[in-house]
Amino acid sequence: MRVVLVVVLALGMVASERPLECRQERHRPQIHFSVPSNWLNDPNGMVYYDGEYHLHYQYHPYSTQWGPMHWGHAVSTDLVTWTDLPISLYPDELGMIFSGSAVVDLDNSTGLQKDSVQPIVAIFTHANAGPQQQSIAYSLNKARDFVKYENNPVVPNPGVGDFRDPKVIRYNDKWVMVLAVGNKVDFFGSSDLKTWEFLSDFGIDPSQGSHAGVWECPDLVRIQHNGFYHWVLLVSINPGGPNGGSVTQYFIGSFDGKEFHSNQMDALWMDWGEDNYAAVSFSNEPKGRTLVMGWMNNWAYANELPTRSEGFNGQMTLPRELNLATVDGALRLISSLPEEFGKLRDPSQVFQLPLLKEIPPNGFYNVSEEIGFKSGLVEVDLAFNMVGIEGTSSIAICFVNRQRQEVCTGYDHERPVDKELFMNRELSGDLRAIGGLRRATAGRVKKDNIITFKIVMDLSAAEVFIDNGLTVFTALFFPDEPLDTLEIRHHAGSAESRVTLINGSVQGLRSMYNC
Ligand code: FRU
Repeated sequence: MRVVLVVVLALGMVASERPLECRQERHRPQIHFSVPSNWLNDPNGMVYYDGEYHLHYQYHPYSTQWGPMHWGHAVSTDLVTWTDLPISLYPDELGMIFSGSAVVDLDNSTGLQKDSVQPIVAIFTHANAGPQQQSIAYSLNKARDFVKYENNPVVPNPGVGDFRDPKVIRYNDKWVMVLAVGNKVDFFGSSDLKTWEFLSDFGIDPSQGSHAGVWECPDLVRIQHNGFYHWVLLVSINPGGPNGGSVTQYFIGSFDGKEFHSNQMDALWMDWGEDNYAAVSFSNEPKGRTLVMGWMNNWAYANELPTRSEGFNGQMTLPRELNLATVDGALRLISSLPEEFGKLRDPSQVFQLPLLKEIPPNGFYNVSEEIGFKSGLVEVDLAFNMVGIEGTSSIAICFVNRQRQEVCTGYDHERPVDKELFMNRELSGDLRAIGGLRRATAGRVKKDNIITFKIVMDLSAAEVFIDNGLTVFTALFFPDEPLDTLEIRHHAGSAESRVTLINGSVQGLRSMYNC
């Protein structure tokens, strides 16, 4: 009986939704969501409902380059394996479907609920040669089909060029929309998602944060820290990234349902790598976490990625949990992997490294040789004691292949304090697309002697979380074969320089695909 039931369920799934068929193109990400074919940019309409996380995305179904935007769609029950679903929103007479969000109308504020089925409402930008304006569509079958609202647009354009990317959140019994307008954001309020009134704006002061590019894809999230709630405004900006191109900045402040205030003047970056843009959060997250995903790419070169010759162009970061930490009295955003990521860990590939291992000055430690394990799909955790590091010394954690192509991240003692941490893809293989954006650097936020790295390696991307996620680097790369060997190097400016790996582990990861 049980066998029959399992077979019926499996067949039912195959018939309606494509499960994880094997994908083995050379640079196909194995642990990151990527577009099955053609083009993807921003994550859109991220919402949890009835056991499923929905990931919509900016999608051009007919080319590996940007074009008339649709909303592609995938779902996941576990945040690590994804099932592709048919396109959710097609362009229409009001224009292309640009970025936006989705919410579950739990209280039937729209009056669209049917029986006990709560509507999922998508709020997105209609973009044409003409003005950008905000529209809605709703689904009464778990986002499998959307119906566009007959009175679109719900927020018409007031006469400005850049007016897009609505992110809607619930605040008490009201809806609040945060919208990118030029290089500031506007807030709008609504009780039914259909009629909206302007509430306030933020970002007028050009000396607050970065205004080096156009503001896009904002989000407003509430994060608890030490018993207090803080509001964090995420704003993607293109260009203007600290290491070139597009990037996501954040402001920590307060929100009263109408206005957002922040005393923060400096630009703070969610990620210092070149490849994390348009990150926004899942709505209705069942555990109340702030879970975000970003587009793992950069407008500086997105249209030319080498994976175009493999038929696809576009992938997302891993889902990340955002929290706050206090460092030297200042609040900072920290990023970590959600517990669901553990599902990708292969229990038969766990390697503990020797404790208190000296990395010899001007030498290196071949970790893969020592543990007898090579793979381009790994999660590596390392903690170093740098109390004895001297002069122009550095620690480089490098992933290398037989052709000596490599990607390295690490700490550079000689550099100015705002450039000590690095992510280097100078020798990573095909560099044609990424051009000059090869080496990203960041200042270290924490200043003590123990530095930690968590590095998640996929076949064409790495995510690096330094000092428990205080500094993050996300980078794409395109080697000729997987970077499957791990080396830890200590370039020493003086023979007395000491670097000790105090603790380390290598965890093999499983692909999300059934190959
Ligand atoms: C950000 C963005 C959004 C826009 C979308 C168009 O990457 O430019 O502002 O809605 O992409 O695809």
